[in-house]
Amino acid sequence: MVKNIAVIGAGAMGNGIAHVFAQFGYNVTLTDIHPATLEKAIQTISQNADRQINKGTITPAKKDEMLSLLQTTTSMEKGVAHADLVIEAVTENKELKSKIFSQLDQWTPPSAILASNTSSISITAIASATRRAEKVIGMHFMNPVPVMKLVEVINGYDTAPEVTHEIVRISKELQKIPCIVNDYPGFIANRILMPMINEAIYSLQEGVAGVEAIDTIMKTGMAHPMGPLQLADFIGLDVCLSILKVMHEGFGNPKYAPCPLLVNMVAAGKTGVKSGEGFYRYTGGNKQMIPAERFKM
Ligand code: CAA
Repeated sequence: MVKNIAVIGAGAMGNGIAHVFAQFGYNVTLTDIHPATLEKAIQTISQNADRQINKGTITPAKKDEMLSLLQTTTSMEKGVAHADLVIEAVTENKELKSKIFSQLDQWTPPSAILASNTSSISITAIASATRRAEKVIGMHFMNPVPVMKLVEVINGYDTAPEVTHEIVRISKELQKIPCIVNDYPGFIANRILMPMINEAIYSLQEGVAGVEAIDTIMKTGMAHPMGPLQLADFIGLDVCLSILKVMHEGFGNPKYAPCPLLVNMVAAGKTGVKSGEGFYRYTGGNKQMIPAERFKM
């Protein structure tokens, strides 16, 4: 019976994942090496719960209950000691994830399921850092986690069918829609999303159209909630670049090669909403954005 959840990494994905598990009654321990990140995560969860109260999806009493189920710690060893399920949501770095999974293997109860929220790194490779590859799985949430319905469930080479069933069951309990996929670079979500974003960046680089035209075409022509360039800023241009590199390397196919403009922007520190500038400049968060100076047409 899965009751105690440990979430590793309290960034945008980690705090969203902690939020939904607490909302559906699980005990959640959120772990991060930075105390300030943990503090900010709890503030964000509280603000996002207020949005849900305003919308009428939860009551103020539910918010209090959610917050009472959430604990934070800077010690991963303590944070995972009683976990039934761990969800790792640290930065997309294979070596870091392997190190964390090797520690999780030592510090969690032997029955615990170890899941990664990775957006593209091989679950099979991550599992090889443990002695329980059959209990390692991908549980890929989408941002913003409290809003987006999808959970991409990724079977590693050795993931046991009962572990997949349990993750599907839990995802449904969180009122999400789980989709099971196999472990190939980018899985499905990013294998299809990232080439679209990359193509939008190539179109901009070649001067086919400006930032706003490209985004407006995809928003109004294809009913996407955000255009591909705004979405890239929202995801983080560094994250987009790293996913494209994983797919390019993993398939050895030039169609996944990251656009040079994306590479340059990341090198210049223009990583999107989180840095204040990407294809747009963000003066008041995600809501107030204008095309970055160099992309005005
Ligand atoms: N927590 C709780 N509620 C939230 C929220 C959050 N973090 N963010 C937004 N909401 C709610 C708002 O309260 C609002 O509710 P109502 O409509 O009922 O009032 C609703 O969501 C819409 O929010 P906003 O009005 O603030 O803004 P919006 O209408 O522009 O929608 C959005 C924002 C939901 C982010 C929408 O623009 C959208 O769906 N964008 C695309 C997101 C997307 O594609 N995500 C996947 C990215 S890829 C990924 O995550 C994986 C990867 O591996 C890269």
